[in-house]
Amino acid sequence: MKVELKKGHIADVKDDLLCVFVMQDEEPPWDIRQFLKDVKKERFEGKLLQTFYADAGKAGYKHLLVVGLGKKEEFKLDFLRRAAGLSVRYAASLKHKELSIYLPARFASKDELTRRAQAVTEGAMLAGYKFYKYKTKKEDLFQVDKAKIVTEDDAADGIRRGAIYAGAQNYARELGELPANVATPARIAAEAKKLGRECGFHVTVLERRKMEGMGMNALLAVAQGSEQAPLMVRLEYNHGKHYPLYAIVGKGVTFDSGGISIKPSQNMHEMKYDKTGAVNVLGVFKAVAELKLPIRLVGLMPLVENLPSGSAQKPGDIVTAYNGKTIEVLNTDAEGRMILADALSYVAEEKPECIIDMATLTGAIVVALGRHAIGLLSNDDALAKTLIEAGEETHERVWRLPLWPEYGEMMKSDFADIKNISDTGEAGSITAAAFLKEFVGETRWAHLDIAAVDLVKTPHPYIDKGATAIGVRLVTEALTRLPKKK
Ligand code: BES
Ligand code: MN
Ligand code: ZN
Repeated sequence: MKVELKKGHIADVKDDLLCVFVMQDEEPPWDIRQFLKDVKKERFEGKLLQTFYADAGKAGYKHLLVVGLGKKEEFKLDFLRRAAGLSVRYAASLKHKELSIYLPARFASKDELTRRAQAVTEGAMLAGYKFYKYKTKKEDLFQVDKAKIVTEDDAADGIRRGAIYAGAQNYARELGELPANVATPARIAAEAKKLGRECGFHVTVLERRKMEGMGMNALLAVAQGSEQAPLMVRLEYNHGKHYPLYAIVGKGVTFDSGGISIKPSQNMHEMKYDKTGAVNVLGVFKAVAELKLPIRLVGLMPLVENLPSGSAQKPGDIVTAYNGKTIEVLNTDAEGRMILADALSYVAEEKPECIIDMATLTGAIVVALGRHAIGLLSNDDALAKTLIEAGEETHERVWRLPLWPEYGEMMKSDFADIKNISDTGEAGSITAAAFLKEFVGETRWAHLDIAAVDLVKTPHPYIDKGATAIGVRLVTEALTRLPKKK
């Protein structure tokens, strides 16, 4: 779906459907007051996402949709994403190919108008996306083609940024939704190469033989039960050598059966989403390249499939990771931390200013935070603060958990340097991060546990059921806020 700017007033709108958002305690824009004047308060008070629909009669547009934004003092930027998403869904249900959304410019500074236009664009584009690759009757699927944002001032920059952010997220949603029989490590690596060609960044792929030579034995141990060859994809975006280097890493388990420590069969199909950290890395690269951010960025995607077989790793196995530390594998289902161990210690050698990783790492984070927050664990307060603020702006909110040395103690092994699960299972998301911490050395680092937020199972205001690619806008926003000088 395309989003365009139309500079002008409500009176200039000549489309089928005009959408106007109003606060509960504010006068609606003059042009639409006539439609609301006889409407009973109970029918439309302007409560958040309450709707009022009318035929517009003599006005330039044919239909009017008024969407409530709630009370002024409770306003959040995300309400605009929700209202825009609702408008697009409303338009689709009435089979309108286009809609106009009025965004008042009065009382808003230029920056504020830009932010609001970005949010509206994101909400509209995210709600307009649906995964229909495997539906054979395409004619049954109605899609809205275009949303015009009508406003008196110049909001082009906000629309441009919103289209880049949401476009990158939708791109990652499409890949995230692909099933494991299609989205193999090889297929995801091929997608990375294709994106690199289109967006102008470098992509290199390390194959099994190469990783064996380098000693990436933790990753290889996870891969050893599968017929699918493991791959480590390295992406590099370079705006110029004088810019600071940042690194992002994403867990890419294309299917997580648990391995020999096999998972229960109920909901096991959801483990096709265990690659969404890696796919998010691709989304962030797409956005960063399109925004032409003045940074250097390295991305790593360790890609493996975790299956049981006669060649699979077994509980009790001990392997030596890339950085030389030995790991006792007490549970083959704690595989994400093993592939990240090699990826993190490999990328740390490049001495980036910081590393941010995204991983569907623990079921425990769903218990701790539910589906409304990303778990954040970090060894650096400033980096954590940047991510928390970026989370508020993008509404991909993060919540920080502690990473005290005591949690690291819980991961010490009797026979190797470290074990991949603790004895008690307590504080599962924190002990997983304490494991990862052993592989970043002194590098500033933040870990984002995106298990649970990576997929939507119940209605979301602007994201349809399935892969969300939550984390793409968050990390892109964080990269725009991190220092641009070394
Ligand atoms: N990919 C899972 C984590 C996960 C679980 C994501 C549920 C989304 C929903 C991860 O590899 C895993 O299996 N973690 C184990 C760790 C345990 C063995 C210490 C878990 O959370 O049960
Ligand atoms: Mn697992
Ligand atoms: Zn996993």
